[in-house]
Amino acid sequence: SRPQVGPTQCVGPDYRSPSQKPIATVSTEVKYDNVVVLSQTPQLIALLTKIRDKETDRADFIFYSNRIIRLLVEEGLNHLPVVEHTVTTPVGRTYAGLMFQGKICGVSIMRAGEAMEQGLRDCCRSVRIGKILIQRDEETSMPKLFYDKLPEDIADRWVLLLDPMFATGGSAIMAVDVLKSRGVPEERILFLNLIASPEGIQNFATKFPKLRVVTAFVDQGLDEKNYIIPGLGDFGDRFYTM
Ligand code: PRP
Ligand code: URA
Repeated sequence: SRPQVGPTQCVGPDYRSPSQKPIATVSTEVKYDNVVVLSQTPQLIALLTKIRDKETDRADFIFYSNRIIRLLVEEGLNHLPVVEHTVTTPVGRTYAGLMFQGKICGVSIMRAGEAMEQGLRDCCRSVRIGKILIQRDEETSMPKLFYDKLPEDIADRWVLLLDPMFATGGSAIMAVDVLKSRGVPEERILFLNLIASPEGIQNFATKFPKLRVVTAFVDQGLDEKNYIIPGLGDFGDRFYTM
């Protein structure tokens, strides 16, 4: 029998009938307009299955995490403002298109958030990146701020805040408080995240209703140690040291 671990859905290409599609656990639905959950495609579910598997070694964990990070960055960039931009093609015709408007920067919540920096650089060449070192206390799960170094003109930029794991939400809330204290308006912050808990989403979305969250998956909840379940364990350890 299949383990029941949250909402399930038939996942597969549209040309297959539901009976031909395998059933997989998909993200819990969220009711907040400012929370965007990536489309639960067969690719995304397969990538998440790889990084959740405790048998996946570090090289594969990095490889498959990077693929999900790339999807998150591409979706995050869709939430930046664009303006009309018309170009002339080599055959002398015009194409009425768009281009990005505004300055951006990334801010990673160290250590695990640094794993998302390369994905952002791959899409936005020479993007400025700030750092905030916040660590969760292993006993109490309370976040502690140790250090931050941010671009001087961060108040004029759109900020892509990076952290793969969103458990109680304490670390992300602390990071947003730092950004707001430097003059970044809430509506110019996009929080990119791989796996969120419903508790973290609720804490965050009610505290910062204008800030947008882009996540790959909202999981079932938290365990007694405030780890996300089913989750993937400690992201930082699996990406950097295990
Ligand atoms: C993890 C994770 C988040 C935080 C999430 O970092 O990367 O920053 O925990 O938990 P929260 O939502 O309950 O605050 P951790 O402090 O374990 O440090 P690490 O990045 O060094 O692994
Ligand atoms: N940090 C992680 O890396 N994983 C969790 O499940 C919670 C916090």
